[in-house]
Amino acid sequence: MTATVPILVIFGTRPEAIKLFPVVNALKSDPRFACTVCVSAQHREMLDQVLDIAGIEPDHDLDVMKPDQSLDELTARLLVGLGKVMDEVQPARVIVQGDTATAMCGALAAYYRKVPVDHVEAGLRSGNIYHPWPEEINRKIIGSMASLHFAPTETSAGALKAENIDPSRIHITGNTVIDALQWVAGRIAQDGSLAAGLSDLEKRFAGKRVIGVTSHRRENFGDGMDNIAAAIRRIAARDDVAVIFPVHLNPNVRKVMNAALEGLDNVALIEPLDYPHFARLIGLAEIMLTDSGGVQEEAPALGKPVLVMRETTERPEGIAAGTAKLVGTDAEVIVTEISTLLDDKAAYEKMARAHNPFGDGTAARQIVELLANETGHQA
Ligand code: UD1
Ligand code: UDP
Repeated sequence: MTATVPILVIFGTRPEAIKLFPVVNALKSDPRFACTVCVSAQHREMLDQVLDIAGIEPDHDLDVMKPDQSLDELTARLLVGLGKVMDEVQPARVIVQGDTATAMCGALAAYYRKVPVDHVEAGLRSGNIYHPWPEEINRKIIGSMASLHFAPTETSAGALKAENIDPSRIHITGNTVIDALQWVAGRIAQDGSLAAGLSDLEKRFAGKRVIGVTSHRRENFGDGMDNIAAAIRRIAARDDVAVIFPVHLNPNVRKVMNAALEGLDNVALIEPLDYPHFARLIGLAEIMLTDSGGVQEEAPALGKPVLVMRETTERPEGIAAGTAKLVGTDAEVIVTEISTLLDDKAAYEKMARAHNPFGDGTAARQIVELLANETGHQA
């Protein structure tokens, strides 16, 4: 009989937690694996919100978050901390997701120990190392070291092949975010109180057309954030519109948004929502305006047009399908594009088609089976 395989799953931020909880829960319920979870806590409150709803208690918690710390300091502390955990756990394999500093350092620490590292959400590329920054380089570094590459789509698999990754190591699984979204929708259907915290806002804005906003990208700090805030002010000047904006805890985002938008009647600047509430916000919204990666995947899956405040995207699938559009961070362009969707029914209908190029909700199960094959545990 083949021995149980010790796997260390590493994550640190909200989006990684959302996209890895389906994998962690699938590994934990599978006797072929012994799954240890290490959180770097690169995020704290925003990570804990996801751990709570997913019912995950980490085995190791590095608690590395410090207010507004530099990428240098974050990277150094992550690498040392994650290396120590690996020395203690002695995993046979390590799993990381996406393109954060935690994922890159987790992969590097595993490589330094010659432990194979498997990459969830592999192969996303914008082709521009400063958009998104520093994520484009983080994921390329991980891709250069990974053992198994779990690509969400044909496009991401193609990007890896173009970088001469051995095609037999690339597997198209869909994105685990769809697993997470389906799971949370099922939980809300069973227990509406899980997302009841938005009911007061829904009442306050009854009859208005809701625009859901998120923003946090580092490359948008400075002028980009100022422009986004100015655009939201102008959109909110319309009587028929309400903006619900859960503001990221990064101080570089909060100080700009609070200064520009606090006190406006039809703008609700609120604390980051837990995942059930955020899923409900997408449901309430007519349009999502965002620079987030994950929201670009979720909004099309729920049939909501998404305007992406970035210059480029590593998720061209939504753009190709016509459910997402790049609008950059020019205030004039953002206002024009939102106005078009609000005022031109045909333009809206064209974008508001449920389209799910990112997976069918079985990614985590596929990943676990691929790991089983890799470690001599065929079903
Ligand atoms: C990080 C990731 C980014 C990912 C984003 C998701 C890197 C370099 N960046 O960016 O790829 O898209 O997370 O949100 O890995 N903060 C809190 N509480 C929290 C979370 C953040 O107070 O729960 C504040 C802290 O002051 C922290 C700052 O936000 O220092 C920035 O957090 P950090 O993880 O460095 O970068 P993000 O901009 O969140
Ligand atoms: N999200 C959330 N609450 C919020 C805002 C976002 O739960 O208030 C979720 C969202 O559904 C998505 C993920 O967080 O799954 C996206 O995280 P973020 O935008 O911080 O990071 P990115 O995806 O850009 O890396």
